[in-house]
Amino acid sequence: MGLFFNKESKEIPRPKGRVISLLNQKGGVGKTTMAFNVAHALSHQGKKVLCLDMDPQANLSLLCSQGVSLESDKNIFHLLLNSVRELKPLHTPVVFTEVVVRNEKIDLLPSGEELSGFELSVAGVSSPRQLILKRFLEKSNILNFYDYVVIDGPPTLGLLVVNILCATDGLLVPFRPDEFSRKGVDHLYEVLENIEDMGITQTPKVLAHIPNLVDYRRKQEGVDLEKIVNGLQERFGEPKVVDPFYNRASIVRSQAEKKSVFEFKGKEFNKLQGQFEHIAGLIEDWRQEGLQQ
Ligand SMILES: Nc1ncnc2c1ncn2[C@@H]1O[C@H](COP(=O)(O)OP(=O)(O)O)[C@@H](O)[C@H]1O
Ligand SMILES: [Mg+2]
Repeated sequence: MGLFFNKESKEIPRPKGRVISLLNQKGGVGKTTMAFNVAHALSHQGKKVLCLDMDPQANLSLLCSQGVSLESDKNIFHLLLNSVRELKPLHTPVVFTEVVVRNEKIDLLPSGEELSGFELSVAGVSSPRQLILKRFLEKSNILNFYDYVVIDGPPTLGLLVVNILCATDGLLVPFRPDEFSRKGVDHLYEVLENIEDMGITQTPKVLAHIPNLVDYRRKQEGVDLEKIVNGLQERFGEPKVVDPFYNRASIVRSQAEKKSVFEFKGKEFNKLQGQFEHIAGLIEDWRQEGLQQ
């Protein structure tokens, strides 16, 4: 409990850090927005946070690189390939410190479009391809240095997402109250069940579903949201759905300035800060519970 064995069978304590991922197969539901602001909420509560961008579109990398240029042409793709023994000789060596972008508040492991070639690049390796990210995080000891690694996922369901799920401790699932987004959630859970069936790793804990971009003026959305929540209830018993995030111009405005909602004042921002702090609180309570076991 709280311990695992390394190759020499010596007991080493499980790191205190946890991996949190934002996933939904559907694009435009707020994965990046939530990853960015939840990371800042955790940082506000004094936690050391690393944002890990696993979307080849690199939106989170852009948001997190305020005032810092992404000088290095190396990103998480190169770190991952370098972490696979069979592939290492084929690539220029690169280490964590060359790739990480250190910011005042949170650090970033950026993504790049190369990441879209991840599946092909690792197609021939004989080690478990689903566990490349997990093994990389373990080998580089990241969870001993950060309280949280917050992963922003791509809007797909391929090997990248399987890698993310296998490396994740706690999952946050943003969705829009519409049919496509609900299907995205369903597909995600099918993949999760497949991983569970493979039995290669612990499956992540679903910490919360986050309704986002809700338009309170549209009655139909309230009806759809209720349907989705009921569906989740049937599936999980407890659906763990946090208060909805409404469609807010203030979110768009903060992102245009590459800032989190915590850097603004005003009624709307206060409300948003409270919502993100609530999610950060849920995450930290769950981590503390795990640490005490
Ligand atoms: N609650 C919200 N209110 C207004 N705009 C939002 C909200 N959440 C996200 N957005 C905007 O919607 C777009 C899609 O969000 P994003 O986080 O990039 O989704 P994803 O990462 O799932 O593709 C972005 O332009 C973002 O600024
Ligand atoms: Mg995104």
